[in-house]
Amino acid sequence: NTKKTLEGKTVLITAGPTYEAIDPVRFIGNHSSGKMGFSLAEEASKRGAKVILISGPSSEKPINKSIELHKVTSAKDMLAKVFEFYDTVDIGIASAAVADYAPKEVAKEKIKKNDENLTIELVKNPDILKTMGEKKTRQFLVGFALETQNEEENAKAKFEKKNLDMIVLNSLRDEGAGFKNDTNKIKIFTRTEKKEFDLKSKEDVAKDILDCIEAQILK
Ligand code: C5P
Repeated sequence: NTKKTLEGKTVLITAGPTYEAIDPVRFIGNHSSGKMGFSLAEEASKRGAKVILISGPSSEKPINKSIELHKVTSAKDMLAKVFEFYDTVDIGIASAAVADYAPKEVAKEKIKKNDENLTIELVKNPDILKTMGEKKTRQFLVGFALETQNEEENAKAKFEKKNLDMIVLNSLRDEGAGFKNDTNKIKIFTRTEKKEFDLKSKEDVAKDILDCIEAQILK
C-alpha cells in the first residue's frame, strides 16, 4: 500500500519515441520503448497524483485507470499536447526520446524507388523540454540525459540550458541500462546534489526518481 504522497499534484510525463513522417507509409523514429515513462506514470498515480501521460508510439499500456493517456505521433504533436496542459502542471517529467530532426517536407504520395540515391532534407524539431523550461512558472521540471561521452558534464550543461530542477542520467555504458531494456542504471543531479543508483527494474527506478522529486518539492 503506497502512501499518497503526491495527492493534489498534477504530474505531466512525456514518454516513448516520436515518429516523423517521410511519406504516407514511412517515418524516422527510434527504438525507445516508452517503458521508463509508463513506469513513472504508474508510480506517480499510485502515490495519488493526477497523471497526464503524453506518449509517442509505444506498445505499453497504462494499468492504473486514473492515468490520462494522450497518444501522439510526431514531436510537433507532442509539443502541442504538452502545452494544452502545462498551466495545470506541478511536476513535468520529460522521458520521451524525441526525434531531433524531421523531414522538411512530407511527400504526399509514397516515394518510388527510382534513383540509386535518395536525399531527405531534415529540419530541427522543437525542443519540448527546453520550451517547458522557458515557460516555467511554478513547475518542477525533470529531464533525462543519455550520453555516450563526458556524461556528467553534458548532463549538467543540459540542466542549465533547459532550465531544469533535476536531471536523470542514463548510462549507455552500463549493461542493461537505457532504451529498450526493462532495467536502468541512473544518476540523479539537482542543483546541489548528486545521487548514484544501482541497476534496477524500471519500476524501481521510477520509485527512486519520484522519491528524489518529493524530497525536493515537499521540503
Ligand atoms: O537535448 P537532449 O535530447 O539530449 O535532451 C534530453 C531531454 O530533453 C530528455 O528529457 C528529452 O525528453 C527532452 N527532449 C525534448 N524535446 C526534444 C529533445 C529532447 O523534450 N526535441
